[in-house]
Amino acid sequence: MMKVMAKISLEKIRNDRKNPIIDFDLKDAVITHYLHNNQNGVSQFFRKDAINYTNEIVQHYFPEEFKEHYTEKNFQPAHFTNEKPPFLPIDIPRFKFIDLFAGIGGFRLALQNLGGKCVFTSEWDKHAQKTYRTNFGETPFGDITKEATKQYIPDGFDVLCAGFPCQAFSIAGKRGGFEDTRGTLFFDVAEIIRRKQPKAIFLENVKGLRSHDKGKTLETILNVLRSDLGYFVPEPRVVNAKDFGVPQNRERIYIVGFHPSLHIDQFSYPQPLDKKVSFADIKENNIVDTRYYLSTQYLQTLVNHKARHENKGNGFGYEIIKDNQIANAVVCGGMGRERNLVLDHRITDFTPTTKIKGEVNREGIRKMTPREWARLQGFPDHYIIPVADASAYKQFGNSVAVPAIQATASEIIKLITQKLPSKE
Ligand SMILES: C[S@@+](CC[C@H](N)C(=O)[O-])C[C@H]1O[C@@H](n2cnc3c(N)ncnc32)[C@H](O)[C@@H]1O
Repeated sequence: MMKVMAKISLEKIRNDRKNPIIDFDLKDAVITHYLHNNQNGVSQFFRKDAINYTNEIVQHYFPEEFKEHYTEKNFQPAHFTNEKPPFLPIDIPRFKFIDLFAGIGGFRLALQNLGGKCVFTSEWDKHAQKTYRTNFGETPFGDITKEATKQYIPDGFDVLCAGFPCQAFSIAGKRGGFEDTRGTLFFDVAEIIRRKQPKAIFLENVKGLRSHDKGKTLETILNVLRSDLGYFVPEPRVVNAKDFGVPQNRERIYIVGFHPSLHIDQFSYPQPLDKKVSFADIKENNIVDTRYYLSTQYLQTLVNHKARHENKGNGFGYEIIKDNQIANAVVCGGMGRERNLVLDHRITDFTPTTKIKGEVNREGIRKMTPREWARLQGFPDHYIIPVADASAYKQFGNSVAVPAIQATASEIIKLITQKLPSKE
């Protein structure tokens, strides 16, 4: 068995177009979750399926060598993958968490940094899954609204993290409750909280959640968490990434909560750091790839567009971020990439390496690079970007600002670890 497994690489199977394994993403999620949890009492939630799927894979690729159904005894996880992802948890973690709507793992990075072990993750976007898998070695499960996905969520984790998309509820009664949220992604989050009773929850959303549907959406969320689920939920806080060491003006709403059995009735959000950062601290210098530079024509289009809209008072704002300034929030979609422009080389300073349509602008005005977006969100430079630029911008634009999440999670963990039973 070990010899056969050594010949298989999950990464290769993923890219096998000729002889694919049906539904490989799910199988890969189960197997990688099993491999990553084989020492913490959580593997039981993935074991049976992981072994069955492994057998299926061996039989698929090596039918002549497949003689008997392998059991866990001759199943050596270490021989199944040579991947060495850059972000692994510490050997003896302090707490367990799950990562829902995981994107590229901003929450995971922050909570792993605090000594946590992620025991379940869900994200259905294939490109985000690829980035997540490359960096953490685990493939997220898919659609979290499906019972088939939820059934893999282990019991006994301490923190539930979720940056769920914001949707309106169709509130029938006076104050929205659990049933009114049915059919939305918040309902799935609430349902998982109800079933699993984690010690703490940490939810993140856009600042606009406060005013969404005239405030009814947030009110309903708080009502469900507090009244229906019984959690202690302090007033949500709008947190700005720039206060936690990254040069990006990004405001997001954080909602935290604590299980009633912990009897926690106070929570302090972290104080802003007294640390001034500016774009110069994260700028990639000497970018010579002309694909990041705007053509003269396109720059002119932006200038005209801005002038037109500013005259009407509803400005589309691109801005040239100077080295001593901070960036606007990075966002995906629309003209997201053009919101933050940078002055870099003068065109005479470098030789263009790739062609762009039209002539490169003389001023040296360029878009920020995906690595700069990663840095603006607090992702370290050994975070691998394995996808094309278009996906990378989308993923970092969708992500959380890791340092702000980490500072808040640190306060949560401080409180709950005082209440956790000592490690077995
Ligand atoms: C705002 S992003 C969260 C990003 C994440 N916090 C990070 O740090 O990268 C929301 C994510 O939820 C994912 N998503 C939306 N609906 C989903 C579903 N039903 N099941 C799983 N993932 C879903 C989207 O693909 C998107 O990546």
